[in-house]
Amino acid sequence: MATSNNIRVAVHGAAGKVGMEVLRAIAAEQDMELVAAIDRIPQADAPTLPVHVPYYSVLTDAITAGKPDVIVDFTNAEASLPMARVALAEGVRLVVGSTGWTEDQLDYLSALCDEHKSAGVVAPNFALGAVLLTYLAGLVAPYFEYVDVSEEHHEAKIDAPSGTAMGIAKAIHEGRGGDMTRQMPTREPLTGTRGGDYHGISVHSSRMPGRMAHHQVTFGTAGQTLTLRHDTTNRECYMPGVLMAVRKVMDMQGLTVGLEKILDFGPAK
Ligand SMILES: NC(=O)c1ccc[n+]([C@@H]2O[C@H](COP(=O)([O-])OP(=O)(O)OC[C@H]3O[C@@H](n4cnc5c(N)ncnc54)[C@H](O)[C@@H]3O)[C@@H](O)[C@H]2O)c1
Repeated sequence: MATSNNIRVAVHGAAGKVGMEVLRAIAAEQDMELVAAIDRIPQADAPTLPVHVPYYSVLTDAITAGKPDVIVDFTNAEASLPMARVALAEGVRLVVGSTGWTEDQLDYLSALCDEHKSAGVVAPNFALGAVLLTYLAGLVAPYFEYVDVSEEHHEAKIDAPSGTAMGIAKAIHEGRGGDMTRQMPTREPLTGTRGGDYHGISVHSSRMPGRMAHHQVTFGTAGQTLTLRHDTTNRECYMPGVLMAVRKVMDMQGLTVGLEKILDFGPAK
């Protein structure tokens, strides 16, 4: 039931795979009101949405009619930046899941948030478990000399290793404050079998149908190994992180990049 205290939320990229999941998640929350579904696809061509919500293919129409407090964006970086420019100028806060933002674009978005005294959260991974895995890997790193990071994704993924695997490798490197020890074979009948090398961290990627997103970190030292693993099975995995960001962004100022920054354990940066 909507009340005046509810957070009014619009979804940009609402006809997409993640956008539809966000519609479902927002509609189920007691303290949120889903006010608009926005997508560039004209309504006549749009897929059937999973919940009843006014649909707009023009952003400004959605903002005028829906008066959202927050827009959740799952489109792509090229689409979310122009949306952000308009939304922030209208006093709307942002939760952005679209990937592909450059550092320059993030700097510009940060300046826009400051200029309009508004707030935004951009997170390349809203899966809480993956964020926790990254954090835990950084904690473990000083106590083990060896580590392998392995990730598995569906065969359509365009990049390898995943951005999350690289984030894990960076957290391990920072947590250790230096390089890991990496064993290289004296004979290598098949090139590349020890994986990519990031500061002594071996990174392996597997691509095949039947997988969504899986990350495993195995640390080794004398007489023991320690394995951390995170598996996702469907897009619901992003929703607790998205809902948390929608609630928190209402009390924030400026741009925050990374879900870990709005969790209490966030590295102080
Ligand atoms: N941050 C995370 O945790 C996370 C998780 C999954 C996906 N993603 C990212 O989210 C984005 C969307 O992923 P997806 O799998 O849902 O893609 P998708 O292609 O299924 O959906 C994208 C939607 O955005 C719409 N769109 C594109 N340009 C638009 C514009 N200019 N204006 C309005 N709507 C526009 C498309 O019509 C489409 O409906 C991608 O960038 C993906 O990498 C992020």
